[in-house]
Amino acid sequence: MNRRSLLNDLSADSLAPVAGAGSLTAKADALEEAMSKELDKRIATPWACSIEPTPVPIPGDTRPWYQHDDPRLPKMPEAPTLTDFFRLRFAPASHLLQSARLAKLEGHDEKVVLACLLHDISVSNLFRTDHGYWAAQMVRPYVDEEVAWAIEKHQALRFFPDASVGYEYPEAYIRFFGTDYVPEPYLVREHEQARKHRWYMSARLITLNDLYSFEEGVEVGIDDFTDIIGRNFRQPREGLGFDGSPVAHMWRSVIWPNNFL
Ligand SMILES: [Fe+2]
Ligand SMILES: [Fe+2]
Repeated sequence: MNRRSLLNDLSADSLAPVAGAGSLTAKADALEEAMSKELDKRIATPWACSIEPTPVPIPGDTRPWYQHDDPRLPKMPEAPTLTDFFRLRFAPASHLLQSARLAKLEGHDEKVVLACLLHDISVSNLFRTDHGYWAAQMVRPYVDEEVAWAIEKHQALRFFPDASVGYEYPEAYIRFFGTDYVPEPYLVREHEQARKHRWYMSARLITLNDLYSFEEGVEVGIDDFTDIIGRNFRQPREGLGFDGSPVAHMWRSVIWPNNFL
């Protein structure tokens, strides 16, 4: 973590003990402690939960936070559709689009193509931690339950090979987590239960299309999926974020990422 940016972001409350300290040494100690507390707080806080003062303000607009329409972001329509989110918030969304493209090329069911298109939808603009569960929750009111189920289960399935379909433990995970990493018991349980489920293969296909979806030079846009979205995603008339569904706030958080008051 950059010491200077940490210092710049310390709140007046955190800095009060520094100002109140008598000697220079006492000030240095108080500052060290304030920075250490700030760091602890940041490590324990998923990034989506940290509302930062405007890091790159618009020239002439000195408000400390950009509530509601953030001038640095494209304005969303009043009743935004899934496609609007792809164009104005998630873009380029290459990973999602390429995963869905691959599923479509392989001739999979439209539900599987849609699941691939949405499987990591929380990652770029909302919540990365435990992302399969967040992504499933975001879309559950608008898709077939099989789609939401498959998205949720891909989180656990990624850690477990399935030789019957050629899915291997991702080589990258050895680099990320080490050779001795063992998935947590809840993931083991989720995987075992999913294996016995009638929709297992839909979730497994997400992980299969996930691995090979980073093709260089392939142009794919959300318009390639207009028909599949139209037939399989129940777009609320009021727009995502404004339909009063139990997940409307999640979509609003993507529209207005700094609306914390
Ligand atoms: Fe994922
Ligand atoms: Fe993915």
